[in-house]
Amino acid sequence: MSIMNYLITGGLGFIGSNFVRYLLSTAKEKDDKIMIVDYGGIGSNELNLKGLEGSYELVKGDIADRRLMERLINSAEVIVNFAAETHVDRSISNPEPFIHSNLIGIYSILEAMRKKKEDEVKLVHISTDEVYGDIRQGVADEGYPLRPSSPYSATKASADMLILSYARTYGINSIILRPSNNYGYYQFPEKLIPKAIIMALGNKKIPLYGGGWQERQWTFVVDTCEAVYSVIKRGKVGEIYNISSDESIRNVDVVKKILKILNKNESLMEVTEDRPGHDTRYRTTSEKIRKEIGWRPRFTFEDGLKLTVKWYMENEWWWKPLINDKVLGKAPWKVDWP
Ligand SMILES: NC(=O)c1ccc[n+]([C@@H]2O[C@H](COP(=O)([O-])OP(=O)(O)OC[C@H]3O[C@@H](n4cnc5c(N)ncnc54)[C@H](O)[C@@H]3O)[C@@H](O)[C@H]2O)c1
Repeated sequence: MSIMNYLITGGLGFIGSNFVRYLLSTAKEKDDKIMIVDYGGIGSNELNLKGLEGSYELVKGDIADRRLMERLINSAEVIVNFAAETHVDRSISNPEPFIHSNLIGIYSILEAMRKKKEDEVKLVHISTDEVYGDIRQGVADEGYPLRPSSPYSATKASADMLILSYARTYGINSIILRPSNNYGYYQFPEKLIPKAIIMALGNKKIPLYGGGWQERQWTFVVDTCEAVYSVIKRGKVGEIYNISSDESIRNVDVVKKILKILNKNESLMEVTEDRPGHDTRYRTTSEKIRKEIGWRPRFTFEDGLKLTVKWYMENEWWWKPLINDKVLGKAPWKVDWP
């Protein structure tokens, strides 16, 4: 097989860095090349790839910089686009960076691909199950209407639309993936699971927005990496694939499980004000990727959560410098983020 040149955008973030680790440890062919482009925003951390220095090339830059993307895409065969502003709470206090990265960023990638005018570059775009919005009943397959609720999910849905239009109009090779909530190693402490673990370790109150009744399907990040890789290898251009586990669980129960693993009291949970526009339930079916590609999650929530808790217990050096009162706060959507 010929050498594969990967361009991984957002490769210093949570899922992106796990994917680079996955490629380097299990999947990559000997001479494949990995180029990362990341502008060093929130969630980005070079320490996510500690120990792997020299195995990839890092370009510090913005995916919305069209010239840069033209240059990088010129020597890429597969672009995996993880780059995005992802902290939903922050999209409520300031949507602008979300429009920039999630929308102008993908526009810039698509234009650079169009300029290449070759059939030799494929975009695997990481969208989200949040594009479907609240699924009060039933499950969303890939044809389900998009009804995003937050500025974050609206920019992600808009990106999906733009990609589909470029595929149809210009024949751009693209595949869209819609993963459910991810958890695992190197996730920024502002997100629910790392925040709950860190607060519990310090015997501090864990905020449960609106009581924590919201229901999510949690996918372990290693399973997501396997799904992304299997789609790169066997996915059909022009298709959309949901990625989700079968386990759906309320946020309050996620926190209870964490407290149980850590042998801490449930009195550490604190019901706080709910975030505006908070979706109550996400539920997708990942039948399509399972049937057509043969992917399925390997980790149960129970097992993935134990591994995650253990990792945060053992890697305080990683998360300690990232935390402060704002990041661990009760209402991040009220904070004035830069
Ligand atoms: N984490 C989840 O639960 C989840 C679930 C479904 C989908 N997703 C999607 O997966 C992708 C990765 O999510 P994550 O949780 O790893 O996020 P993250 O915030 O940890 O990482 C995002 C990375 O993208 C980089 N980035 C943002 N804008 C950029 C720009 N304009 N140019 C260059 N780099 C830029 C950031 O610096 C950061 O390193 C995102 O597209 C997100 O929407 C995440």
